[in-house]
Amino acid sequence: MAEIIGITNRKGGSGKTTTSVNLAAELAIRGKRLLLIDLDSQNHCAIGLNVNVKKGTPTVHHLFRNSEARLTQAIQSTVCPGLDLIPADPLFEHGMSSGDRFRLAKAICEEELDKSYDIILIDTPPSLDDLLMNALCACNWVLIPFIPHHLAAVGMQNLVRVLFKIKSGPNQQLKILGFLPIMLDKRIHQHRTVTDGVSKQFGQWRLFSGIRTDIKLVEAFGFKCPVRLYRPKSRGAADYAIAVDEIMSRLTQF
Ligand SMILES: Nc1ncnc2c1ncn2[C@@H]1O[C@H](COP(=O)(O)OP(=O)(O)OP(=O)(O)O)[C@@H](O)[C@H]1O
Ligand SMILES: [Mg+2]
Repeated sequence: MAEIIGITNRKGGSGKTTTSVNLAAELAIRGKRLLLIDLDSQNHCAIGLNVNVKKGTPTVHHLFRNSEARLTQAIQSTVCPGLDLIPADPLFEHGMSSGDRFRLAKAICEEELDKSYDIILIDTPPSLDDLLMNALCACNWVLIPFIPHHLAAVGMQNLVRVLFKIKSGPNQQLKILGFLPIMLDKRIHQHRTVTDGVSKQFGQWRLFSGIRTDIKLVEAFGFKCPVRLYRPKSRGAADYAIAVDEIMSRLTQF
C-alpha cells in the first residue's frame, strides 16, 4: 500500500510546491513509483514538471465538480521518469467544492491508486478549506515545510491544532512525518531560534535537516523540470536528496 503524504502549511510561500516537485522527483529517480497530486489551482506542479494543462484537460479538481469524474483519467506522465502527476485546474475557484471531505480519499481507494504507486504526495493550497480537508483526510502522513521565521512558528502551532482535531475525528491514521525548514541559514539567529523551538515542541526526531536557499530551485521551474534534472550538483538537489534519506528512514521506522 502506498504511503500518502500531504505537504502542507497554511502560510503561503512556505516551499510546499518546491518541496512537492523536488521530493517527488528524487523519490522517483530512486525507483519509487510516484504519484503527485496538485490540489492547488495555482497549478504550479504542472509547470515545474512540464505537463500541459489545457481547457478541458482532466484534473484533480474535476472530482469536486462532477460525481462521475475519475482520478485515473487525469494521470499524466512527466519530464521525470517514474513520476506521474494529477494536475490542478487553474480555472477552479476555491470554495466551489461539494463539501465532502472524503471525496479524494474515496477516489484514491476506489481506483486503487494506493496499490499502483509506492508513494502518493499531495501538494496543498495555502488555505483552510474543503480542498485542504480533502488532502488531510486522504493522507496518512503530513510533511510541513516552513520558513524559519517567527510568524511561521505561530502558524504551525495553529496547523498542528487542526491536525490533532482531524486525527481525533475523521482521519485517525494521520501522523506528522516532520517539519522541513526551507531557505534555512543556520548563521541567522532567528532561524536557529525557530528551528530549536520546533525541535523542543514537537521532538528533535520530527525536525528534518532542511533546504538551504538556492536560486537553482527557483530557476528549475522556469526550465520546467525538477532541480535533480536541471542542476544535479546544486545545493538544492543535494538538500532534497538528504531530505529523502531522512523521510525514507522515518517511514521505515513506523
Ligand atoms: N530553498 C529555496 N531557495 C530559494 N528559493 C526558494 C526555495 N524554496 C522555495 N523557494 C521560492 O520561494 C517561493 C515560494 O515557494 P513555493 O511556491 O514552493 O511555496 P508554496 O508554499 O507552494 O507557495 P503557495 O502557498 O503560494 O502555494 C517560490 O518563488 C520558490 O521558487
Ligand atoms: Mg504552492
